[in-house]
Amino acid sequence: MNKNIVIVGSQFGDEGKGKVVDLLTEHVSAVVRYQGGHNAGHTLVINGEVTKLHLIPSGVMHEGVKCLVGNGVVLSPDALIKEIAGLEARGVAVRDRLHVDFCCVLVLPYHVALDQAREIKKGKKAIGTTGRGIGPAYEDKVSRRAIRLADLCGNEERFAEKLKTVMAYHNYMLENFYETEPVNYQTVLDECLAMKSQLCELATDVTGMLEAYREENANLLFEGAQGTFLDIDHGTYPFVTSSNTTAGGVSTGTGFGPCYLDYVLGITKAYTTRVGAGPLPTELSDEVGDWLTEKGREFGTTTGRKRRCGWFDAMLVKRAVMLNSFSGLCITKLDVLDGLKEIKVCVGYEFEGKPLKSPSFGATSFAKCKPVYKTFPGWTDSTAKITKYDELPENARTYLKFIEEFVGAPIHMISTGPDRVDTVVLKDLFG
Ligand code: IMP
Repeated sequence: MNKNIVIVGSQFGDEGKGKVVDLLTEHVSAVVRYQGGHNAGHTLVINGEVTKLHLIPSGVMHEGVKCLVGNGVVLSPDALIKEIAGLEARGVAVRDRLHVDFCCVLVLPYHVALDQAREIKKGKKAIGTTGRGIGPAYEDKVSRRAIRLADLCGNEERFAEKLKTVMAYHNYMLENFYETEPVNYQTVLDECLAMKSQLCELATDVTGMLEAYREENANLLFEGAQGTFLDIDHGTYPFVTSSNTTAGGVSTGTGFGPCYLDYVLGITKAYTTRVGAGPLPTELSDEVGDWLTEKGREFGTTTGRKRRCGWFDAMLVKRAVMLNSFSGLCITKLDVLDGLKEIKVCVGYEFEGKPLKSPSFGATSFAKCKPVYKTFPGWTDSTAKITKYDELPENARTYLKFIEEFVGAPIHMISTGPDRVDTVVLKDLFG
């Protein structure tokens, strides 16, 4: 029986993880975020009502389920408090449900200033970050100068001193290297201290809580943000985010040991999208691309940016199966493909005119890969809101069958619409 399930995006993020997490939450005691920050954007639709989340785990809409933010997450105090206030205004009792690890690194205004100054300086080579300060915050973590939630919750003088030192360093860079305005120390200090009591009420040892859940034999859900190919190590570097988005990030980002994990679900869009710069071999800049953007409402939850759209890249997802040891897949947005005459799937690449045996996914060589396609007939019937596999059009079933065989992981769920209920469940994951 599976007790501890991990949800990971198998492409470039925006695969629809939030909906699946929300759907599975009724089976668990806690939903846990393990990496990323408020660069993430998860959209939930419950009884037609839309909720957008960035930092708070997607289980928050369920009473009696704890939402835990693990040490691997970088935490913007300001973004967290705004998100809590937004949910509370709608009657969701967030503070009873939410706990944040003391070791979370804080994302502060100088990280945002650095992120944005860097992107401007890079000009055409910009990564297209969300501009939320995520990269600079993770840099502070690995350079061992970061300010963590524990620092804010500890002695005020020590916190002020630490902030002064780190800000002197970053302001020097902002003024002298990026030739831009520094960030005011006193303002940041005052803002942090003003939020201190609200934040510190939520602070805890998440690792210890997880161990207690394990001892109780409780079910847990670990919610990934972004997607496999935005992973700092395994993604299309340097066009990546700054954390380990792959399943391995669960253990480092929460302190929950790898052997305690039972099942990894790869959330996989029925086509491919990417937001921001970086290679996307199957990208479509024709009317089919426009169709996917419009029909799939492919605009970023966090930045509102238009997502780039393309055919399903089975080579990428096959790699994601390996990187994450997916136990099963959930195919999302299948209904967006309804009505297309033909549907293509990338089943190989050509590199400088020759077939490529073992592709490299780093940005430089991946950008030169040309997709080799296999074409499938489309289907005219609507798959929207279907909940039984047998009711899917035959051509849709053929398409899905091919995907699972090619990538080497079984399809255990299919999402046929944004609402919780628009789902085909082929396997009871906690069964
Ligand atoms: P950062 O995470 O803001 O540093 O952005 C780095 C790259 O990751 C950019 O291409 C962003 O567009 C992308 N990115 C970050 N968060 C998300 C997400 O939640 N969904 C999709 N792309 C994301």
